[in-house]
Amino acid sequence: MATHVITGAGSGIGAAVARRLHARGDDLVLHARDAGRAKQLAAGFPGARTLVGDLADPDKLSWAFSHQTLPDRVDSLLHIAGVIDLGPVGELTPKAWRHQLNVNLIAPAELTRHFLPQLRAARGHVIFVNSGSGLNAHAGWSAYAASKHGLKALADSLREEEHAGGVRVTSVYPGRTASPMQAKVHQQEGKEYDPGRWIDPESVATAILMALDLPGDAEVNDLTVRPGR
Ligand SMILES: NC(=O)c1ccc[n+]([C@@H]2O[C@H](COP(=O)([O-])OP(=O)(O)OC[C@H]3O[C@@H](n4cnc5c(N)ncnc54)[C@H](OP(=O)(O)O)[C@@H]3O)[C@@H](O)[C@H]2O)c1
Repeated sequence: MATHVITGAGSGIGAAVARRLHARGDDLVLHARDAGRAKQLAAGFPGARTLVGDLADPDKLSWAFSHQTLPDRVDSLLHIAGVIDLGPVGELTPKAWRHQLNVNLIAPAELTRHFLPQLRAARGHVIFVNSGSGLNAHAGWSAYAASKHGLKALADSLREEEHAGGVRVTSVYPGRTASPMQAKVHQQEGKEYDPGRWIDPESVATAILMALDLPGDAEVNDLTVRPGR
């Protein structure tokens, strides 16, 4: 049975992925920002283990993990958690920049560093849920897009470093997806939110599972998922 470490499993795309993997009986280690959230995740996914650490504070993740039992087998590490805060460069504060860079870029690097020994042993898979903003940056999206451009660089470097050892690395670039994050984007853009216009998180989960389940002779490097209507 495969063991998956998943961030962001409490909402949106991450919840859809976790539900699929849980339903087929895979072994889940669900990351949560704090103990209360971990308790909710454990209740929602019976049998799953949890791992606590605030991604907004990557400097403390190592300390937090040193006080918990880490899984000794990891077949896949799915970085799905993320945050967004829109605003023009002229108004974005260092706090807003740091928060997005910490959660979206530095924490995934730190989590990857922690689980690389297990991933190498399992010839495992690292999946980064990126964004269209990781490929193109638009007005008002600088900090989020910078964090996601950085995440692409992290994934590309990791892929080259670990390819010979059999660790696969995939970046998934979803377009607008109906989730609490997208509701916030609409609110910050001053637009009315109609979830029916955007990608269903289940469809992004299908794309992620396709990459994950591909036999070991092949690796999806980059996968762009756009709204179909
Ligand atoms: N929605 C879109 O349109 C869209 C488009 C392209 C890419 N993406 C990317 O897809 C991924 C998932 O987004 P989503 O739309 O599913 O968003 P979402 O519903 O807002 O979920 C975000 C998840 O990240 C977790 N998280 C945020 N800050 C955290 C922290 N400090 N520590 C630990 N966990 C934290 C949240 O935890 P809690 O459950 O505890 O709040 C939540 O589970 C993100 O990386 C996002 O950038 C989304």
